[in-house]
Amino acid sequence: IQSDALAAIAAASDEKTLDDARVAFLGKKGRLTAAAAGMRHLSSEEKPVMGQLLNVARQAITSAIEEKQTALSELADQKSVEGIDLTLPGRALSGGGLHPLTQVKDDAIQTLRRMGFALADGPEIETEFHCFDALNTPADHPARNEKDTFYFDSGKLLRTHTSSVQIRTMEKAAPPVRIIAPGSAYRRDEIDATHLSVFNQLEGLYVDTDVKLSDLKGTLEFFLRSMFGDDTEVRFRPHFFPFTEPSFEIDIKLHAKGQEPKWIEIAGCGMVDPAVFASLCETRGDDVFDPDKVTGFAFGMGIDRLAMIKWGIKDIRLLIENDVRFLQQFA
Ligand code: PHE
Repeated sequence: IQSDALAAIAAASDEKTLDDARVAFLGKKGRLTAAAAGMRHLSSEEKPVMGQLLNVARQAITSAIEEKQTALSELADQKSVEGIDLTLPGRALSGGGLHPLTQVKDDAIQTLRRMGFALADGPEIETEFHCFDALNTPADHPARNEKDTFYFDSGKLLRTHTSSVQIRTMEKAAPPVRIIAPGSAYRRDEIDATHLSVFNQLEGLYVDTDVKLSDLKGTLEFFLRSMFGDDTEVRFRPHFFPFTEPSFEIDIKLHAKGQEPKWIEIAGCGMVDPAVFASLCETRGDDVFDPDKVTGFAFGMGIDRLAMIKWGIKDIRLLIENDVRFLQQFA
């Protein structure tokens, strides 16, 4: 039996035939098992002799199977790496990264939070009241045109700026109010390299008993220098917004390589128009925002634009296409 078994084990060429051999000899109905069962017909003198023989055979067969198993698995390992150069370096795992818009947005939020501004938000589907009327924007103002603004049948609209959050916040809070509101804004613009129908804004509002134009100027200069570098030149250019008076557009001076430095518009801002406070008093039915007692400043900037300036991105559409070749550069 033992020599038959060893021959079968030696002949086994894979795990399956090896296991067949094990079953044939050591299994429940295997030959060695049968021989052990036959011992009961032997005399008491013969039993220990036979028992000894069977034990030796079982041990030999078992260790032969184990050896063969090791040999077979080594062979399998060898086969599986055949043709593979194990000295080659492994493939690098590619990691993800934050989208450039998320990076500037987070950066801006962090800077402003350190300056004491808290986060606020409001709905993207807005009422005409919060987007326009409460912001002192008359019914015949061009921004309210159906050509420029997405209206729903209900009369609601997709907010054209995050300034509506100023109103939403002041309807509930009391001065001092110091908030920022990042979020989407929508306009019916022709889509090109600098316009999309949805873009990202960051609104800011500070209202208290004695907020001055110099506070607005200092805050935004500090903010822009911490975003774009300490030597960034900042310019306030008189402008008009219905909800601020006086109003400005803010430009920063860009020094692009091989080009004449040029001023580029980056935000709108101004001192909150007393008419906005007066309207709030009416809505709230109290004088918490009495225009004779409080003053404030507000600003709004395009986050897409900040990102484009920061990295010299020439086409705003790159920011929404999610082409990895573009995104990888910011990982
Ligand atoms: N809401 C203005 C815009 O979208 C920007 C702005 C915000 C201007 C706050 C003044 C104050 O252009």
